[in-house]
Amino acid sequence: MSIPKLSDEKYREVVAAYEKKTPKSKLLNLESRKYIVPMGAPAYMIWHRPYPLFIDNAKGSKLYDVDGNEYIDMFIDQGISYIGHKAPAIRKAIDKALDKYGFHLEMCAELATKWAQKVMQHYPSIKKIKIVNSGNEATELVCQIARAFTGKTKIIKFAGHHHGWNGVLSYDALAAGSGTLFTLGIPNNHWDNLINLPPNDIGIVEKALIDNRDQVAAVVLEPLGASTGGKPLIEGFQKQLRELTTKYNVLLVFDEVATGFRVAIGGAQQVLGVTPDLTCLGKPAGGGIPMGAVGGREDVMSVVGALDPKAEHFGPLFPMGSFCAHPLAMAAGIAFIEELEKGDYIQNSIDRASDLAKGINEITARLKMDVSAHAIYSIVHFGLNGKFDMSQVIEVFEFDLMIRLGLLLGNPGVVVLPGHVYMSGVMTEKDIQKSLAAFETAFKIYK
Ligand SMILES: Cc1ncc(COP(=O)(O)O)c(C=O)c1O
Repeated sequence: MSIPKLSDEKYREVVAAYEKKTPKSKLLNLESRKYIVPMGAPAYMIWHRPYPLFIDNAKGSKLYDVDGNEYIDMFIDQGISYIGHKAPAIRKAIDKALDKYGFHLEMCAELATKWAQKVMQHYPSIKKIKIVNSGNEATELVCQIARAFTGKTKIIKFAGHHHGWNGVLSYDALAAGSGTLFTLGIPNNHWDNLINLPPNDIGIVEKALIDNRDQVAAVVLEPLGASTGGKPLIEGFQKQLRELTTKYNVLLVFDEVATGFRVAIGGAQQVLGVTPDLTCLGKPAGGGIPMGAVGGREDVMSVVGALDPKAEHFGPLFPMGSFCAHPLAMAAGIAFIEELEKGDYIQNSIDRASDLAKGINEITARLKMDVSAHAIYSIVHFGLNGKFDMSQVIEVFEFDLMIRLGLLLGNPGVVVLPGHVYMSGVMTEKDIQKSLAAFETAFKIYK
């Protein structure tokens, strides 16, 4: 079987139906494109053809567009609005912080300490933290910390693992084999310090560590595999990496920006039982307000600002940032973690993801389509007969776009991210039933 394709005529039909349903989004998109480059704001939905939805408001598991259409949100801001849009507990915490501190406060406030305590309660590997503004900043910073601590320059990452768009780790970050696609702004010799290895082969990692002896500062990975587990790591690989990095005196970094507070409250490291030296956090950790963080071993983290009292502020690293530890992010983040502690959001999202994957596989089997879904904790990934290599990337993206367009046409529509679906902790069984009906309609467009 091959990747299903739409005829030009069918494509025009689907686009016409979408234009009829979303005329105001169409106009707002035309206006926006006069001023903002395509990836300008926001980054992801702008990929949607013929144009993205423009949203008027959001609540719980739902989005409402400017034309008044309702959507079940399976994008949830890439997992950020994990306990639902405008979650009351988070909103209350933000209001309180706003009353106290105003819109921003580049001064010390107790909130950051409380947020850090909360994180450490659930991530025993983290003994000290540096707070930044995004996941991308966290993954860039973690490499600087590893280099400053070890005095070595090379970083090992894995093919297809995504760590943001920064100049340290964005090589081969779209999918395995994508190489320098989308990184023309970064000089090629920059990658001399990056070793990009195929995942799941511990022998190859050991060879790289031997060939580059005393040059590798850290091994960085998405701990469940590329695309937040869309390309899973084989069981035991993370433990083998832990042993190997210890043996060769190299730091092990888990990028838990997407997995933290999602696969378990203590992230992938909790479910895997593997303790990294350093961890990157982000996405929902600020309760929906932008933030990121790097935390880990006390000795390693001490390079961020010297501990020598005579030179208190002059560490080997000096990562400034006007918005770091923004009080609203700290307040929202604390409220978010406290909600996770109280509620059964994580288990609910995992159960709903499993229901969705099962339902999709039943539909595609019935329709005899070469499309499958698999749930990794609360994220559902799509595959085309298990394939997703770069030789097929255009066709896969084309297919994926059409499915996403078809899903938006449902009533209610369903919003998903390219290639995968993020389940929120407030998704109900009824939401899943309605979504499956929309998936069936979307798949049938290909029949
Ligand atoms: C694993 C991982 N690391 C880092 C990032 C970058 O985070 P941000 O978008 O907050 O810059 C992402 C974003 O998708 C991610 O999934």
